[in-house]
Amino acid sequence: MNDILPEDVHKWHSVEDRARYIFELYGFSEIRTPLLEQTELFARTIGEDTDIVGKEMYTFIDKSGASVTLRPEATASVLRAVVEHSLLNQDSIQKLYSMGPMFRYERPQKGRYRQFYQINVERLGESSPLCDAETIAMAYDLVDAIGLKNITLEVNSLGCQKCRPVFRKQLKEFLQEKRDMLCKDCSRRIETNPLRVFDCKETACQEAIKDAPRIEDHLCDACRSHFNDLLQTLDALGIPFHKAPRLVRGLDYYVRTTFEIKAEGLGTQNAVAGGGRYDGLVKALGGPDVPGVGFAFGMERAIMLMKEAGPVNKGCFVVIQGGREIYRSAMALISDMRSSGLQAQAVFEKSMKSQMKRADKSGYLVCAIIGETEVAKDMVTIRDMRTSSQVQVKRALAINKIKEMIMA
Ligand code: HAM
Repeated sequence: MNDILPEDVHKWHSVEDRARYIFELYGFSEIRTPLLEQTELFARTIGEDTDIVGKEMYTFIDKSGASVTLRPEATASVLRAVVEHSLLNQDSIQKLYSMGPMFRYERPQKGRYRQFYQINVERLGESSPLCDAETIAMAYDLVDAIGLKNITLEVNSLGCQKCRPVFRKQLKEFLQEKRDMLCKDCSRRIETNPLRVFDCKETACQEAIKDAPRIEDHLCDACRSHFNDLLQTLDALGIPFHKAPRLVRGLDYYVRTTFEIKAEGLGTQNAVAGGGRYDGLVKALGGPDVPGVGFAFGMERAIMLMKEAGPVNKGCFVVIQGGREIYRSAMALISDMRSSGLQAQAVFEKSMKSQMKRADKSGYLVCAIIGETEVAKDMVTIRDMRTSSQVQVKRALAINKIKEMIMA
């Protein structure tokens, strides 16, 4: 679990602001749900046999004796809220996003934490593959807007309740033959969740499944047509993708489309976003039988890749020299700066040298200097911190001049 320090927080704001902007362009609205839910909600949706539910949940008994869990993901909570508040009766299409911390008791490593933040998107009420494509496009827009480079989009279809069991049976038979080569977890997964073997990082398991059957060869006609339609639409939208026949994801609720966006530079935990279609999940939670698709974007992983980009500090540091009258005059100007939307800071009654040092450290592009001479002449000295050049301007024109210099 990490502290997010002031030096990094501007990157968090930047990602959150861009996400809000993009999602609203697509017609999504924000929903906020509690961090704690009844444990049963996650077991029913994510799946009893997944690592998340089986090993990673922060679950405890509250004072009333109820079993509650810190949410390991947002989909279950958002769908619970949609059903509880009958939102689909108000509008049969719901486009919702949310942001916040999730909790999984995982083995911490680079890009994998026990409290991590997701930006989460859920879209209910449309079964068309065009909807899957548009949702993926929105995830892609976000990744693009925050400037992540060397991005790969992987897509797969996991089939539906009709064709997946046939594939599962075949895969199980294949894996039983290879049992000796599999790790302990995968050996257990043959019975509980054979598709998850595709996701195992052990070299021996990867070797064992080299020639495993592929789900793509077992899709029913409806799933095949859905998948082809999705791929053609991604092509038409100019979004490059790779088919990833082994992309299974760690949550059991997916049907048909699954996808992940991977980025270089993250090591083994290289997925910045992942999601897919989950028709049937709203019904399983006691709601109407509506289809759904969504994804979640991992904040920490995105921020890690943004580390190099330093803050662009668009404010003004005000250096003040003189007695109380000069300070009062400078404080009035600082107040006007803030009223006009300009970020402004000063420190009080420190030496000129120490104020200039702080101005340098602030990262601001511009510094204003107010001393006895300036006040006497009703002027302000403005210094461009990038070039160290200075100009004097009439006080009434100072704010506009500073804004102009910041934009230059
Ligand atoms: P997920 O693949 O479990 O999907 O998580 C989505 C993203 O959250 C991952 O790609 C990763 O960037 C980030 N993430 C997951 N676990 C961690 C961790 N321990 N530390 C840091 N980042 C992490 C879901 O959660 C689904 N609910 C997504 C979804 C929404 N599907 C449909 N709607």
